[in-house]
Amino acid sequence: MTIVTPNNNPDEFKDHLVLITGGTSGIGLTCARDFISHGAHVMVCGRRQDRLDSAQKALGDQAIAVQCDVSNLQSISDMYQVVKTQGKCIKTLVVNAAVAKAASFANIDEEMFDLTFDINLKGAFFTIQKALPFLQEGSTIVVITSISNQHAAPNFSAYSAAKSALRSLVKSISLDLINKGIRVNAVSPGPISTDMYDKFGLAQSETEKIKQVISNKSPIKRFGTPQETANAIRFLASSESSYIVGAELVVDGGISLL
Ligand SMILES: NC(=O)c1ccc[n+]([C@@H]2O[C@H](COP(=O)([O-])OP(=O)(O)OC[C@H]3O[C@@H](n4cnc5c(N)ncnc54)[C@H](OP(=O)(O)O)[C@@H]3O)[C@@H](O)[C@H]2O)c1
Repeated sequence: MTIVTPNNNPDEFKDHLVLITGGTSGIGLTCARDFISHGAHVMVCGRRQDRLDSAQKALGDQAIAVQCDVSNLQSISDMYQVVKTQGKCIKTLVVNAAVAKAASFANIDEEMFDLTFDINLKGAFFTIQKALPFLQEGSTIVVITSISNQHAAPNFSAYSAAKSALRSLVKSISLDLINKGIRVNAVSPGPISTDMYDKFGLAQSETEKIKQVISNKSPIKRFGTPQETANAIRFLASSESSYIVGAELVVDGGISLL
């Protein structure tokens, strides 16, 4: 295997393709902007066409926004058909698409359980598996997990369980793929300011209360920004992290230390 040495190369991503699932809002969209600012060509996906259109407009010519529902295997294959037409290998795959629905354990029905696992775990699994023909030695995969995979929070049992499985998957897959010179790692965000909180399915006042409690509890006394998460993603995607394999980098302002 070729040893890829750290190079502090500001052009490392120049003209390379970075694919980001769930790249139409929050962390994924900021991450797309960040890679573009480092010279990359970016493909983002999501389900909603209006979000894809606004992401395409915001990201400009160096991006392609493609509709894909990662819970549907055919939809993932169709997305990779678009990659094929680009005639490029994927330098970095960011496995980011996920949903988080709040519900007490007693109220989680089969539909909510399946939605959570189909997107957050099965979707991630097959997004990576179907990417293999487009990855090469030196490619990197960054999977977005969550501190909830080790730190319990009420009303997020299905989400946390899916993210725990994802953490395990990152470790297994990293061993499967390092023989091909492909490094797999995870970024585990804590509370980050994105639209995700508005999609919990709670009343606005309840969501605001949760956010306030989190901010007060946080050692750093605030939410993180999507850019602070994108910085960690780019680090694990780059050769600056060339000896890091199967790791989970926590980006949470210290809240999981409590
Ligand atoms: N924000 C936080 O505090 C936090 C904390 C821990 C972990 N995370 C993780 O960070 C990642 C990004 O979250 P975020 O906060 O940026 O959330 P977000 O703003 O809600 O973004 C989620 C993205 O995923 C897409 N998506 C959802 N389901 C999809 C599907 N089935 N197929 C394709 N795309 C799908 C969404 O677009 P569509 O809805 O249009 O499909 C959207 O682009 C997630 O993995 C999340 O679990 C976030």
